[in-house]
Formats: sequence, C-alpha cells, structure tokens
Amino acid sequence: MITDTLKPPRVALGTWAWGDSGETGNGYFGSNFTQAELEEIADKAHTAGFTLWDTAMVYGMGRSETILGKVLKRYARSDYQLSTKFTPQAAGAGGNPMEDMLKQSLANLGTEYIDLYWIHNPANVDRWTQHLVPLLKSGKVKHVGVSNHNLSEIERADGILGEAGFRVEAVQNHYSLLYRSSDDAGILSYCRNRSIPFFSYMVLEQGALNGRYSPETPLPEGTNRAQAYNSILPQLKALTDKLAAIGQKQGAEIPDVAIAWAIAKGTTPIIGITRPSYIDGLVRATSMSLSNEDISDLEALAGAANVNTRGWWEQEM
Ligand SMILES: NC(=O)c1ccc[n+]([C@@H]2O[C@H](COP(=O)([O-])OP(=O)(O)OC[C@H]3O[C@@H](n4cnc5c(N)ncnc54)[C@H](OP(=O)(O)O)[C@@H]3O)[C@@H](O)[C@H]2O)c1
Repeated sequence: MITDTLKPPRVALGTWAWGDSGETGNGYFGSNFTQAELEEIADKAHTAGFTLWDTAMVYGMGRSETILGKVLKRYARSDYQLSTKFTPQAAGAGGNPMEDMLKQSLANLGTEYIDLYWIHNPANVDRWTQHLVPLLKSGKVKHVGVSNHNLSEIERADGILGEAGFRVEAVQNHYSLLYRSSDDAGILSYCRNRSIPFFSYMVLEQGALNGRYSPETPLPEGTNRAQAYNSILPQLKALTDKLAAIGQKQGAEIPDVAIAWAIAKGTTPIIGITRPSYIDGLVRATSMSLSNEDISDLEALAGAANVNTRGWWEQEM
C-alpha cells in the first residue's frame, strides 16, 4: 500500500522555537521573531536546499504551525515538505481526535496534506497507532513516523501499521553527543537494518552545545531551556573546546561539528533554526567529514561531561 519511499534530507529544520512568537512570547526558548525575520531564514534555507520543516500542533499551541504556514506561502507546495505531529496528551474529546488534530494542523499550515505525520510520544501505542491508517489512505498524510518511542513500542507500532499494509517509515528521538540513549538501546541499529530514517532532535541541546553560551553568558533567563541547561554549562566546556578544535581544521564552527557528528552517525538532524546565519552552519555541517578518531574523542569527552539532558517529556529508552 506504500506508494513511495520517504527520502530523508541530510538536515531537517525545526520550528519549536517559532512557537514562542506571539503575545505569550518567551516560553521555552525566549525567542521572538517577526515574519520578515523568519522569511529571511526560509529564503536562505530554500536557496541552500533545506526544505523539510518540522513542527507540531502543540508548539505554542498552533503558533509554530501558523507562522510556518505563513512564511512558506511564498513557495510552491511541491518545493517544501511538512512534518508535524499528533500529541496524545492534547487530543480532544471528539470521536476521532487524531483526525481532528490533523485538520487543525492542515488549517494552521494552510495545506491539503502533510508529508510526514508523527505520533509525538508513545502514550497508548495500541490505541493511537491504528488511527494513522485512514489518514494515510485519505492521502492527507503521505508518510508516518513515531517519536519518543522505545524499541518495543516502535516494533508494536510497526506491527499495527503492518496489518493494514503500512509501516513505521521514520523514527524521531532525542539524540546528541550528550544524549545517546537511542544508540545504547539498539534503536539506531534497528533503524539502520531496516532502512528506516532516524531523525535526531536536540542535536545542539537547545543551544547549550553551540558554543555561544557559558556561565558568563547563559541561556535567556526565565526560559525552560535556561532552567534545563544553565547549571551544566561549566561541564560542557571541554567538549565545546574539542568541537571548536575539530571545526577549525575545516573552517567550521562548534555547532557545525556537533551537527556533522549526528550526520556521521547515520541520522538526519532536525535543527531548531532561529537565525539566517545558522543556515551557513548547516551548509558547512553537511559538507565536512569527521574521522573515526574525531568521533571517538568527541564521544569520550561528552561522556566525561557526565550530564543527563533527558527532556522532562522523555522516557528512559
Ligand atoms: N519529537 C519531539 O519530542 C521533539 C522534541 C524536541 C525537539 N523536536 C524538534 O527538533 C527541533 C530541534 O530541537 P530544538 O530546537 O529543541 O533544539 P536544538 O536544535 O538542539 O537547538 C536549537 C537552538 O540552537 C541554536 N542554534 C540552532 N542552529 C544553530 C547553528 N547553526 N549555530 C548556532 N546555534 C544554533 C538556537 O539557539 P539561539 O536562538 O539561542 O541561538 C536554537 O534555538 C525542534 O525545533 C523540533 O522541531 C522534537
């Protein structure tokens, strides 16, 4: 029943931070954007060939999707791909909460279809996975994936979809130098063996690994990411110094190397993009190569940082 295979890009673009824009502001990232600023990011991304945009209805409760939809209006629908999510905890009380949330996402994004639709987390895999089937059959959803699922939950979801002639086509989990639980739990190798694209989120640990933040210049006060990361910034110094040293040899910067690492591990990073200049970093990241020694040095230093960056919404894998 699957008509075409999902072709993952080398890097996808994340827009969770875009949901902070608007009257409620701040929230997770402390970001506030004008539409013109975001259009500049999108123009630069599209010129560089980065065209898969990841969002979720719950990012700013519709704000991220709505802003993204407005920004992408300037392109033909066939020139970009949309990835958004059904979040079980935000399900409504109607007869088909997944269809209802999808309708809301389609309206927010101003589109007829979603290229890649995710179940955001594994709350009740048996209940929710089957609801993907009619959405796939209707054509409103082209491909489906699961996020924050552990290995047995991925297999269970795949079994449910398999009964209807579909399958889990992508997996999206937190995966960074500092947080490698999907590798340790065998999810990466499971995906590799079955040619399932693995999308890694929070590769830059919400900015904590981009080298711009330190105890002297912490993440924006009052935001969730400040609360999660400011206290561990001193422990990340040896790792970011090494990222800088590796980057210097190839004319690249700290975040570029962290992103190149995630690509070298066979994953598609979803990078939360907040400035036009960050697109240059993605171009560098996708054109650099890391030696096995670079990779093992980085992983050793990341382990030695001895931090646990698991998000509050994530389970142990
Ligand atoms: N499925 C899930 O449960 C889940 C959970 C989390 C995230 N996600 C997805 O993954 C995406 C990425 O995660 P995230 O945004 O939370 O974290 P992230 O990608 O690790 O970090 C994003 C932050 O890093 C900085 N940054 C981004 N690109 C940079 C570059 N090239 N150079 C320097 N700094 C850079 C920006 O901070 P400044 O603005 O401070 O510079 C940005 O806000 C999200 O937007 C979302 O689409 C999914």
